[in-house]
Amino acid sequence: MAVNLAFAATGTTQRATTSRQMVAPGARRLEGLIGNTPLLAFQRMTAHLPANVQIYAKAEWTNPGGSVKDRAALNIIMTAEREGKLRPGMTLVDSTSGNTGIAYAMLGAARGIKVKLFLPSNVSPERIAILRAYGVELVFTDPLEGSDGAIRAVRDLVAREPDAYFYADQYSNPANWQAHYQTTGVEIWEQTGGAVTHFVAGLGTSGTLMGTGRRLKDYNPAIQVISLQPDSPFHGLEGLKHMPTAIKPGIYDEKLADRNLDISTEDSYAMAKRLAREEGLMVGISAATAMVGALKVAEEVAARGEPAMIVTLFPDGAAKYLSSHSDIYGARSA
Ligand SMILES: Cc1ncc(COP(=O)(O)O)c(C=O)c1O
Repeated sequence: MAVNLAFAATGTTQRATTSRQMVAPGARRLEGLIGNTPLLAFQRMTAHLPANVQIYAKAEWTNPGGSVKDRAALNIIMTAEREGKLRPGMTLVDSTSGNTGIAYAMLGAARGIKVKLFLPSNVSPERIAILRAYGVELVFTDPLEGSDGAIRAVRDLVAREPDAYFYADQYSNPANWQAHYQTTGVEIWEQTGGAVTHFVAGLGTSGTLMGTGRRLKDYNPAIQVISLQPDSPFHGLEGLKHMPTAIKPGIYDEKLADRNLDISTEDSYAMAKRLAREEGLMVGISAATAMVGALKVAEEVAARGEPAMIVTLFPDGAAKYLSSHSDIYGARSA
């Protein structure tokens, strides 16, 4: 059965079922749990800021696959099905550092689509366990080549067997950023009552920043869009890219952001610890990077005596990082 786009947007089951089926009016299918994430306020870490400088964060770990990438994966799959690029019997293939893979795996399981993923072999054991639980096929690539090595491997496979595979290609697929244009940007605008002044987000594929940034600038061109990147090619910020030395994602337009901030691994790790201990927020490392960036912008604006409503986005929670990052979360120390 072709899935109704309106169904995915509203999340109700009513439009997606035949008239003979009994449907509980309040019931939702898995896809309907994606998006509409809470906008989180902070309790203690922003206490030093003046009352007219506020920071909020989209709590993306509340998506059913545990990360922001559910949004992109859903739109990539729905768009490919609609355009006839993902047909029955084909396998969805992509390279992923984890979260997009988890989202494809979850949606593939729910929709009966085979999924094959290429990922660097140093991805955390929790992620691998989650992917295996959803029943996907995994191909591990050289960790020294990072996510770029996984991209090269998947391109080779698809070039050899183009009819067997749908290459989801999250780095070049416009459905990635469009997911955020259609959902994340609209949610932020509505949840702030149109008062948002800055949007701050890290760059991985860049889908989050491109789509959300474009939508917010369409609402109000004065909204400042600020990208965050690791400050060095060798970094520990999983999910984020150092653009000057990485393969540039096809969807990335470096002219969209008004400015970029380089954030260190050390500052991000320290922030992840603080978010857990001072805010009760067990978030992932790139979420901590986002908070470092948002606080920097807030402190600059406050120093100039200007008001601001800064919105950032916390891509995922801490659960997948606990075993590999006892240094941050203190799993083995006090
Ligand atoms: C943990 C984490 N943070 C941030 C990002 C970056 O998001 P985007 O790819 O939309 O730029 C990703 C992307 O995979 C991620 O997994």
